[in-house]
Amino acid sequence: MEPAARFEGRAVIVTGAASGIGRATAARFAREGAAVTVADIDEAGAARTVEEIGSAGGTARLQITDVTDEEAVRRMVEETLVAFGRIDVLHNNAAAIQLNFEDQDVVSGDLATWERVLSVNFRGVLLGCRCVLPEMVARGGGAIVNTASAAAFYGESRLAAYAASKAAVVSLTKSIATAYGDRNVRCNAVAPGIVVEPGLQEQIGGPNGPHLQKLTAAHVLDRVGAPEEVAAAVAFLASDDGGFVTGEILRVDGGFTAHGPTFTTTHLERLRDGGGG
Ligand SMILES: NC(=O)c1ccc[n+]([C@@H]2O[C@H](COP(=O)([O-])OP(=O)(O)OC[C@H]3O[C@@H](n4cnc5c(N)ncnc54)[C@H](O)[C@@H]3O)[C@@H](O)[C@H]2O)c1
Repeated sequence: MEPAARFEGRAVIVTGAASGIGRATAARFAREGAAVTVADIDEAGAARTVEEIGSAGGTARLQITDVTDEEAVRRMVEETLVAFGRIDVLHNNAAAIQLNFEDQDVVSGDLATWERVLSVNFRGVLLGCRCVLPEMVARGGGAIVNTASAAAFYGESRLAAYAASKAAVVSLTKSIATAYGDRNVRCNAVAPGIVVEPGLQEQIGGPNGPHLQKLTAAHVLDRVGAPEEVAAAVAFLASDDGGFVTGEILRVDGGFTAHGPTFTTTHLERLRDGGGG
C-alpha cells in the first residue's frame, strides 16, 4: 500500500531516470501525483520511462540532459519551470555506473576514469544543486534527495573513484542541508546497498550467478534490493512525511553496512550448507 498522493500539484526532476533506481523513483513520484521531468543522457531509456508513466496515467516529460554539462543542467531546470511552473523536488541520481569496471587500482588505473567518475557522480550532483537552489529559495523551499551509496562508507581494493565520488555526495548533502535549512530547503541522500536492476544483473552474470550470491550474502536480509525499495525511501525524504529530516544519509541497504567483517563469510557458508540465513 502506497501513501496517498503526497506529490499532487508538485513538480519533480529525477536525473538518471532512464533506468534502474531513477526510473523506479520517477514512476513512484508520478504515481503519487507529481509532474515529473525525466532527465537522462540516454534518450531511448528516458523516453521509455516517460511512456510508462504516461500509460499508467501519470504526467512526465523528457529532458535529454548530460549532468556534467552546466548549460544542459540549467536548461533542465528552466524548461521544467516553463512546463510545470514550479520545482518542488530534485532527485540527483545519475551516475556513470558503466565506468565501475574500469575503476581499478589507484596507481595503475586510468586517471581519465577518475575524472569522468567524479564528473558524473559528484559534479553532476553539484550542478543540479547549484541550478535548482536559487529557484527553491525564491519559491520558499524545496527538497533535494541525492543518491549516494553504501560504498561511501567503506574501502574496497577497487572502486576507489566511485566510493570517493559518493563520499563527496554525502559531504555535499550535509553542507547544503546546513547552509539552506533556514530557507526551508531540505537536503538528504539515500545510500543504497546492492540494488539489482537489469543492467547490473547482466554485468555480474545473471541473478543466479556466483557473484550475485556473494553480494547477497553481504546483506543481513539475505537478498539484494529492488529499485522500488530505494524509490520508496526517496519519496519519503522528499515528501512532507520527511518534513523534519535534513542532512540525513538514509541507508537503504538491507544491512549491508550494519555488520562486522566475519558476517559475510559465515552467512555464505550457511547459505551453501542449505541452512538459510
Ligand atoms: N544499483 C546499485 O546497486 C546501486 C548501489 C548504490 C548506489 N547506486 C546509485 O544509484 C543510482 C542509480 O543507479 P542504478 O543502479 O539505477 O544504475 P543505472 O545505470 O540503471 O542508472 C544510472 C542512470 O544514469 C544515467 N547517466 C549516466 N551518465 C549520465 C550523465 N552524464 N548525465 C545524465 N544521466 C547519466 C544513465 O544513462 C542511467 O540511466 C546511481 O547514483 C548509483 O551510483 C546504485
